[in-house]
Amino acid sequence: MEYTISQSEFKNFHELIYRETGITLRESKRQLLQSRLRKRLVDLDLDSYQAYYDYLLESDPHGDELIRMINCVTTNKTSFFREYHHFEFLRDVVFKQKIEQAKNGGPRKLRIWSAACSMGEEPYSIAMNVHNAFADQSGWDIRILASDIDTEVLAHAQRGFYETSRLAGIPKEHLQRHFTKKPDGMEVRPHLKDLLTFRRINFADENWPIKTQFDVIMCRNAMIYFDHETQDKLLRRFSEYLPNDSHLILGHSESLVRAKDLYKPLGKTIFVRTGVQSSSPPQQAPPTLAKPVSKPTASAASKKTSASKAPAVHTKLRATPAPAKQKETVKVPKKPIIVGEVFASREPTCVTTLLGSCIAACLYDEDAQIGGMNHFLLPNGSGDRDAASYGIHAMELLINEIMGLGGDRRRLQAKVFGGGHVIENMKKGNSVGDKNSEFVKHFLEVESIPIVSEYLGGDSGLQVQFFTDSGRARVKKIEKRKLPREEVKPSTPKLEPAAAADDGITLF
Ligand SMILES: C[S@@+](CC[C@H](N)C(=O)[O-])C[C@H]1O[C@@H](n2cnc3c(N)ncnc32)[C@H](O)[C@@H]1O
Repeated sequence: MEYTISQSEFKNFHELIYRETGITLRESKRQLLQSRLRKRLVDLDLDSYQAYYDYLLESDPHGDELIRMINCVTTNKTSFFREYHHFEFLRDVVFKQKIEQAKNGGPRKLRIWSAACSMGEEPYSIAMNVHNAFADQSGWDIRILASDIDTEVLAHAQRGFYETSRLAGIPKEHLQRHFTKKPDGMEVRPHLKDLLTFRRINFADENWPIKTQFDVIMCRNAMIYFDHETQDKLLRRFSEYLPNDSHLILGHSESLVRAKDLYKPLGKTIFVRTGVQSSSPPQQAPPTLAKPVSKPTASAASKKTSASKAPAVHTKLRATPAPAKQKETVKVPKKPIIVGEVFASREPTCVTTLLGSCIAACLYDEDAQIGGMNHFLLPNGSGDRDAASYGIHAMELLINEIMGLGGDRRRLQAKVFGGGHVIENMKKGNSVGDKNSEFVKHFLEVESIPIVSEYLGGDSGLQVQFFTDSGRARVKKIEKRKLPREEVKPSTPKLEPAAAADDGITLF
C-alpha cells in the first residue's frame, strides 16, 4: 500500500517530535519522515499518517509507541574514535590532570557522560582510553554514563557486539585487548562493559535521572538537530552537572551559541566550565525523575545475543574509595545464602554466597537503595528442590521480593556471577555453567534489566559478597575443593557450607 504524508500531517508530526525531543525537522525532511514512519503504519495496520498521529495521542497510554516513533526519527551515525583529537584530549589532558591531582590528595574518582551515545562506539572509545590510562593505578572509582533517547541503539550499545565493518577505526592493540572474536564481528569484553552504565535519557525531559557531577560531558553531533533555543537550554542544563574546570566536548560543527558565560573555549570544540563560585555551597544534585526512566522496549532488548563464554577480566578500575569499603566490611551484618535461596533487603546487609557452576544474580534499585541476591543451580527444571533452585523462578522471586520492599522493576540493574567450568568432564561452551550464564544474560536482556557488572565463566569457584544498600559487589576466586558439593556436582542434593578468607578481593 502507498502511504503519503500530507503537509498538515507533516506539521503535526513536526510539532509532536519537537515537543517530545527537541528535534527540529525542516520541510525538506518530509520524504524522509514519510519513509521512516512507514513501517509503524504497516505494523499497526493503519491507513494514513493522520491515523498514526491520532493513535499516538489517543491509544498509547504508556507512551510505548511514542518511544518507537522517536526511535524511527533519530539519526544515529557514529563510529569508534570519531574526531580522534577529543580522545587525545582525554588521554593527554584530562586523565593526566586527574592522576596528578590524585597524587596531591585529590579524589580518585572519574565520571564521564557520553550523552547521545548512539550505538555505543563513543562510550566504548572513552572506556578504552580510560582503561589504558588507569590500568596501572589502584583505588579508582570510575564510571561512564552512556545515554541516548533511542532505545534501539541503546540496546545495541549495551550488547556491545559490532560487525567487522564497524571496527575499522579501532587501533589493533585496542582490538586485541578489549574485544572477543565472534562470528561476523567482535564483542566488547566485560572489563570495558563494566565501566559503563546505560540509560535512556531524553534531553527534553524535565528531570534527568542523574545524581552526580561529571569531569567530562561529551555531547557530540546531537545538538545539530535542535534549534538555537533548545541548544542553549541544553548547554545550560549540562552546566549544572559540571563543576568548575570540568570539560564539555561538542561535535565538530557545534558551538556554544549563547551559553558563552558558562564555558571557555579551548579549541576543537572542547570547552572548560568556568564561573562556578568556589565559595558557594556544594552544588545540590539535580532532582531525579519522579517516575522511573523508560527502559529499552522489550522488542529492542529481546534481540538475542549469545552469552559471553569468556570470563570477565579483573580490573582495578572499579575499586571504590577506602572509607566506604571500611564501612561495609566493619559494620554491615552478613547474610549467607545457599542454592535455592533468595534474599533482599532495604537495610544495609552483606549477602554472601559461594559459587561454582551456579549463578548468583544481584539486583539493585539505586533510587530506592534496595538490593538482593539469588543463587540458582540450573536454568529450568522441576523435582523435589525448592523452586528458587531454578533460574526462571529465582529471578522472578528476587524481582518480586525487591518490588515488595518498595523497589521498581524498571529501575533495576544487575550484577551476575558464577557459571564456572568446575564440573569434571564437561566441555567449555556446553557446560552447566555456560547454560546458566546464557540463561541469566538472556533473561535480563528480555526483561530490559541492564547488566552493569559480570564475572561469568572461568575455571574457579567464586565467593561473592553483595551490599544491598549500595549495590556494590566483591568477588574472590576460591579453589574448587572449598566449594559446596552442589556447585561442582549439581545432581547431589546435600550442601556443605564452606568459608573463605577475605583477601584478594576484586570490587565490582
Ligand atoms: C548522530 S548521533 C551522535 C552519536 C555520537 N555522539 C557521535 O558523535 O558519534 C546523534 C544521537 O543523538 C540522539 N538524540 C537525538 N535527540 C535526542 C534527545 N532529545 N535526547 C537524547 N538523545 C538524543 C540520537 O538518538 C542519536 O543517537
